[in-house]
Amino acid sequence: MQNKSLKLILGLLVLLIVGAGIYSGFTSKKAPKTNQTSKDKTVKVGVLQYVSHPSLDEIYKGIQDGLAQEGYKGAKIKLDFMNAEGDQSKVATMSKQLAANKNDVLVGIATPAAQGLANASKDQPIIMGAITDPVGANLVKDLKKPGGNVTGVSDNNPAQQQLDLIKTLTPDVKTIGILYSSNEDNSKTQVQEFTKLAEKAGYTVRPYSVPSTNEIASTMSIMTSKVDAIWIPIDNTIASAFSTVVSSNKEAKKPIYPSATAMVEEGGLASVVVDQHDLGVATGKMVAKILKGAKPADTPVEIFNKGKTVINTKVAADLEITLPEEVTKKAGKLIK
Ligand code: TRP
Repeated sequence: MQNKSLKLILGLLVLLIVGAGIYSGFTSKKAPKTNQTSKDKTVKVGVLQYVSHPSLDEIYKGIQDGLAQEGYKGAKIKLDFMNAEGDQSKVATMSKQLAANKNDVLVGIATPAAQGLANASKDQPIIMGAITDPVGANLVKDLKKPGGNVTGVSDNNPAQQQLDLIKTLTPDVKTIGILYSSNEDNSKTQVQEFTKLAEKAGYTVRPYSVPSTNEIASTMSIMTSKVDAIWIPIDNTIASAFSTVVSSNKEAKKPIYPSATAMVEEGGLASVVVDQHDLGVATGKMVAKILKGAKPADTPVEIFNKGKTVINTKVAADLEITLPEEVTKKAGKLIK
């Protein structure tokens, strides 16, 4: 009898010791795990894209690639994505919404989107995705030292190289018409800069602005009778309705020099452009840098101004333009 209860006590003791061992193993394993979860917590990034057009879509894809390259992919990141479809009132409401959603970082793709976010939040970090003129658009005070809650990536249009290309491919051009949107600060600056350079090179420049995509066809029909060639800046409104630009030029057959590869693919003649995917990747990497603790106020704006030549050889043939070999050889992309 005594023997039996001794065995029982011993057995219980063994159970207790083993149990405690398991428990302590469990808790000691659990401790570093909590550490890891705080480091691996899901970050929230709010993205506002101004409008849909192929270049901005490519930039958004690039942003996701850039973030993934820095480890922010899968369960580690939640993207709170909105598209304002070119509607200024949607820009305002969506910006407020994204700011209220407690995102860790906000990203604005295209100038009106970045401006909307900057109006909605003065303290959350905001990253500019491909903004042509951050200072002119009142988004940062200084490109090297932004000072506030906004920094990001800028696509500086290689206007002089574009002008040189106009001269090489179409030497008879004397008057250049410009088609752009009156609502985009990014375009206003580019038009001023291009006009200055073109006039210096001896061209007559005629700017035509449109308040929305609705006026593109009628403006084109007036413009094509008054100019020898058409130049288009990095403009979202025109890019989002570029097929209208091309179709309203069918009869007039003027050479069109737009400022993005997608527009050359859709029927423009040629351009010198900044790579859109590269812009997106750089934007994504800058978001990652901010997520890891950098402050927008002292993170310089990254500027992309290196252009590559793109030519639509089908359009060139259509316009009976002979492409000099030294141009096609050096071109970054020939669209056939
Ligand atoms: N840079 C433009 C802006 O500041 C946005 C943009 C990027 C864009 N890539 C483009 C516009 C290509 C037209 C075509 O708003």
